[in-house]
Amino acid sequence: MFVYEKKLQYPIRIKNTNPQLASFIISQYGGPDGELGASLRYLSQRYAMPYPELKAVLTDIGVEELGHLEMIGTLVHQLTRKLSPDDPRMGNFAPYFTDHGVGVYPVAASGSPWSADYIGVKGDVICDLTEDMAAEQKARVTYDNILRQSDDPDVSDVIRFLREREVVHFQRFGEAVRLAKEKMDQKNVYFTNPILDK
Ligand SMILES: [Fe+2]
Repeated sequence: MFVYEKKLQYPIRIKNTNPQLASFIISQYGGPDGELGASLRYLSQRYAMPYPELKAVLTDIGVEELGHLEMIGTLVHQLTRKLSPDDPRMGNFAPYFTDHGVGVYPVAASGSPWSADYIGVKGDVICDLTEDMAAEQKARVTYDNILRQSDDPDVSDVIRFLREREVVHFQRFGEAVRLAKEKMDQKNVYFTNPILDK
């Protein structure tokens, strides 16, 4: 069960309308390395995770990613909420605006709608945790790319916070892989699936 707290993990107060920037940032809402995929990846992987402390890591990070999804949605909303169809700043946001107006919809910057193909849930400890490490690095690189394109310090400040959390998550999944390997070694099952390969 989830309990909702009506507050963002990090404050967001964007003053300027900037649909061009929103057209990049939407990728972290519904793109291949975005926050929707991150939350669903970890919150789905946790059911088959045999070690309670690692299940807790997946739950903890998965829930935080939901908070990040909310932050990205808020960024896109604040960047576009005052946009009118004839706004000369529309730029690359025009195709998105045609389909979704100023609504927040899970698509990649390239225009593809969110897909479960973006995430892996294998039911195998090492497969899932190493995927999670790669996913965190990919999210960090995407935030780096957004930072390079951002010309709004209010936006960059929020993106830097999110980028930093991806670095922390990468570290935590790295520790999780180490712990998982130690536990597998104890039972002499090495890096196989301890549920299936007794
Ligand atoms: Fe993350």
